[in-house]
Amino acid sequence: ASDRAADAPGSVGEIVHRGLKNLEYRGYDSAGVALAGPTSGLTVAKRSGEVDALSVPDVPDATLGVGHTRWSTHGPPTDANAHPHTDCAGDVAVVHNGIVENYEALKAELSDHEFTSDTDTEVIPHLIEEALAADDGDDDLLAAVHRVEDRLEGSYAICAVREGDDRIVVARRGSPIVLGRGEDASFVASDVTAFLEHTRDVTYLEDGDVAALSPDGVEIFADGEPVERTIETVTWEADAAEKGGYEHYMRKEIHEQPSALRQTLAGRLDVDGGDVDLDVSFPPGFLADLEEIRIVACGTSYYAGRYAAQLFEELAGVRATVEIASEYEFGAGRTPDRTLVVAVTQSGETADTLGAIRRANAAGARTFAVTNTLGSTVTREVDGTAFIRAGPEIGVAATKTFASQVATLAMLAVAVGRDRGALSAADARSVLKDLQGLPGAVQQVLDEENQVREAAREYQDSEAFFFVGRALGVPVALEGALKLKEISYDHAEGFAAGELKHGPLALVTPDTPVLAVLTEGARADETMNNVTEAQTRGAPALGCVSAGEEYDTLDVSFDVPDVGIVEPLAANVYLQLFAYHVANEKGRAIDKPRNLAKSVTVE
Ligand code: G6P
Repeated sequence: ASDRAADAPGSVGEIVHRGLKNLEYRGYDSAGVALAGPTSGLTVAKRSGEVDALSVPDVPDATLGVGHTRWSTHGPPTDANAHPHTDCAGDVAVVHNGIVENYEALKAELSDHEFTSDTDTEVIPHLIEEALAADDGDDDLLAAVHRVEDRLEGSYAICAVREGDDRIVVARRGSPIVLGRGEDASFVASDVTAFLEHTRDVTYLEDGDVAALSPDGVEIFADGEPVERTIETVTWEADAAEKGGYEHYMRKEIHEQPSALRQTLAGRLDVDGGDVDLDVSFPPGFLADLEEIRIVACGTSYYAGRYAAQLFEELAGVRATVEIASEYEFGAGRTPDRTLVVAVTQSGETADTLGAIRRANAAGARTFAVTNTLGSTVTREVDGTAFIRAGPEIGVAATKTFASQVATLAMLAVAVGRDRGALSAADARSVLKDLQGLPGAVQQVLDEENQVREAAREYQDSEAFFFVGRALGVPVALEGALKLKEISYDHAEGFAAGELKHGPLALVTPDTPVLAVLTEGARADETMNNVTEAQTRGAPALGCVSAGEEYDTLDVSFDVPDVGIVEPLAANVYLQLFAYHVANEKGRAIDKPRNLAKSVTVE
């Protein structure tokens, strides 16, 4: 919101456009702006694709504007689904980050409103329109946003503008909002990078805060009452700010896992009822008759699949196998119409995985995708999709997407188990409670980062690293080794702990630390026996151990909070941090390791 002259180099349209450019690094699939001026009213432009491709309308009298880059969570990346979204009259425009969990119920209530997108966001401008028109309300944007806020479940950061109003009204719950306090302009963004060239004086809103920005300044309200929030001065340079103050995207993304997981789980768990709502459907009777789930994937997603296969067998009572996508063939002795082939792929674009899905489709199997990317190729080629909602991941080495993939697959296993009658409501409830506890458990692990950094310093110069686990600890051991080799370039291998003695033990020396998953779900005591075999040959041993358990002989013991069936997933966060700190000590190109690509679109 600014009172700068419209045609100056810093016109409102240009400022908003540049702000969007500054946030491009975060990944997005669509962009849009709304500009408002006293005589021109409200002008909206939006489209799928690049910020550069968006032509920002020329609105000479604009005094305020909002912009948005969308990374789809509900509805594919189309022009109509891009933000801002407007009400019926086109008087109110809203941009939103987060998820409105109860949007279907709200949309049903707004049956006399015409909706033009598939997004959850679009209910917000329509609710504001209703609130503005309500007999018992004020015809005031700030008051309307206050009212609407009470109706929204989920997480949001919203910015709303209204024709004829010189304020931007913003509200925050769960998704970040930072205000920038310039001399002749006020700024708002999800990240300071957006406006750092204009002001370094910022105020971070707290959850539940509502604020109104105008050229004169900012008013902030909590519970409807005006409050003061401190103004801080940002000292980071733009490059560090992009990474939220972290040195690498990978470390930022490791630390984003609690919020990514919350987003993955949002609105999907019915803990009391012992069920989940993943918004996926299968033909009647299909799940009951299911003979096999075959997971196809590559790299980290393959290890997420290995974790999930065990959950499908245990929770859904169905045979589950995992294939490296490039090796997958439908295979003999299987019944296509009783087989579900599940592609796990964060990008939705991996050529090997798409190839496997095409072979499964050709064989007549039912296909399904678990992906982070709405509108990706895989979603167009399968019969059904569940989105993991982890948010964009920039680091080549996958971290938060692994956690969110496993969490999504765990919910799918519960859904299938309940549908097939293989899982009681009580058992489902216990799994869902574990899942519910996972974001907090991951946070506790992250809080121990110093301990991991020290261990990484101590062992970084080792000749090789071996990772072991059993049961659900196996995929985590494999993933731990993959992370370390990808970003540190050190030799690292993961094994099923029991296999150590059948070959790899020949490689074990005092210079090859063994890292073990010693949690619930990973047959810790048996694994510890194998760790001891390695220690007898002189290897140092580091273990991720369930809270309350103790293995005295370990050289380093990392505490894993008690979250049952997803404990190995929390342990994995220690291994991510270990890989990160070993690579960081060595000064590696952590976000873009040599020879690797984030998404491999060739077979
Ligand atoms: C590449 C990436 C890996 C990723 C794999 C599968 O190899 O470097 O980090 O796990 O592709 O990617 P997807 O997008 O299918 O999950």
